[in-house]
Amino acid sequence: MAKSLRVKSFAFAALIAGAGIMSAIAAESTAPAPSSAEPLPPKRVSWSFQGPFGTFDRAALQRGFQVYKEVCSNCHALKHIAFRNLADPGGPEFTEAQAQALAAGYMVPAGPNDQGQTVDDKGQPLTRPATPADYVPPPFPNEQSARASNNGALPPDLSLIVRARAGGPDYVYSIVTGDGTPPPPGMKMRPGMNYDPYFSGRQIAMPPPLTNGAVTYADGTPNTLDQEARDVVTFLTWASEPKMEERKRMGFNVMIYLFVFTGLLYLSYRRIWHGAH
Ligand code: HEC
Repeated sequence: MAKSLRVKSFAFAALIAGAGIMSAIAAESTAPAPSSAEPLPPKRVSWSFQGPFGTFDRAALQRGFQVYKEVCSNCHALKHIAFRNLADPGGPEFTEAQAQALAAGYMVPAGPNDQGQTVDDKGQPLTRPATPADYVPPPFPNEQSARASNNGALPPDLSLIVRARAGGPDYVYSIVTGDGTPPPPGMKMRPGMNYDPYFSGRQIAMPPPLTNGAVTYADGTPNTLDQEARDVVTFLTWASEPKMEERKRMGFNVMIYLFVFTGLLYLSYRRIWHGAH
């Protein structure tokens, strides 16, 4: 009796295991086969801000803001960054005066004037120069107008893009440098789309944003496509995590504290148990 029960339960377990293996095989065969439309993994780039002690390169952050301002800001908003943040420690660290001057180069919607008007004589909304307290104004007033100007696609806000995408800085670098590379022969491109092997579907509505010489750097840094991409990605990484340097410093200090504390605990342990054996 006991024996037959054992045999039965063994058969039952074998059945379960078999069913498990069969369903695993079935799942394997129904998974989509990798196709040529699947994006390539991002290029591996080395960054100054990687690792537990990595910091931002100040000059790269400042150049990166320039690239955002002169190129990306034509289509992409950066809504979480205020001009005053450009002078914050741990960021591009423009001087207060520089941040003010950068802000003053943008116009933002103004509130009602002394007469309570919100539009001028021609019916246009009132505007005023931005101040350091203002956030970077978006290029389009709403999503519909952004799509209308971009082949129906929405250029996403770039403030958090580095954190929002798998691959982070490597992904954004790959997107902007991969955009506009020649498609493989036989690939059918949809109208108005550009080949980008790193973008989902390998077709992107963004025209290649950067080229050699797209910006001119005041500090004389060579304005190659690679340099521009590195700089703007460094800037966007800071925008995604403005307190990164502070966080790492804090983490390091906590480690030192724990190390010293462990040492003290050990010494007091020795003292308390001294001669107890
Ligand atoms: C002419 C308009 C235009 C400019 C200029 C532009 N972009 Fe784009 N970008 C777009 C559009 C539109 C999309 C959405 C593409 C799509 O969905 O097919 C996009 C998508 C992206 C994506 C992919 C986002 C995702 O969802 O994964 C990144 C990253 C990006 N842009 C970065 C940049 C950077 C950095 C710059 C400046 C160097 C820049 N773009 C300049 C229009 C633009």
